[in-house]
Amino acid sequence: MAGVFLTLEGLDGAGKSTQARLLAQFLAEKGLKVHLTHEPGGGLPGVRGLLLGEELSPEAEYLLFSADRAEHVRRVILPALQRGVWVVSDRYLDSSLAYQGYGRGLPLPWLQEVARMATLGLKPRLTFLLDLPPEEALRRVKDPDRLERSGLDFFRRVREGYLRLAEAEPERFLLLDARKGVEAVQEEIRAHLQALVP
Ligand code: TYD
Repeated sequence: MAGVFLTLEGLDGAGKSTQARLLAQFLAEKGLKVHLTHEPGGGLPGVRGLLLGEELSPEAEYLLFSADRAEHVRRVILPALQRGVWVVSDRYLDSSLAYQGYGRGLPLPWLQEVARMATLGLKPRLTFLLDLPPEEALRRVKDPDRLERSGLDFFRRVREGYLRLAEAEPERFLLLDARKGVEAVQEEIRAHLQALVP
């Protein structure tokens, strides 16, 4: 596979979308073909309405995220990677492990089992985790949607989950302090990519 798959993760308000955009811009300036994408909605654009509109069980929530991801991988991410395109995704499977697993308490083995089929085993080459104290994340979210209204304890569990995921796979994750300025964080991301970018 010629392309490289990169993801950004973190709590709401951590600045993932801005960093994803700047990263895609950097790669394009290096002459690489880049596709910037995101979850939820990268595979099934209508899924955001379902996820944010209804009170759903955690199980249904996870299966909807997974359905979106299954389409995202098959229709968007893998075809791009096969064409030699670098794919930058604002959220991917780690969001589900952190939010539905650690946050909502669904068993990780079940999440992983569903994920193996949904993602065809596709893992990011690198994942940039924008770490933020939960209090700060909640402050930054101005107009919280249903998922973001889950409160401080939920955000604490999600953050803890992300940190554990990063600890378990140090070669894939780069842990970044999202309280630093946008430019400082982007600098660290770019420096870390030196070895990969031709
Ligand atoms: P978010 O990145 O905020 O999307 P948007 O900018 O389009 O609102 O994602 C929406 C919410 O969905 C966010 O609170 C994180 C949550 N989420 C999960 O709980 N599990 C997942 O697998 C994904 C992809 C997102």
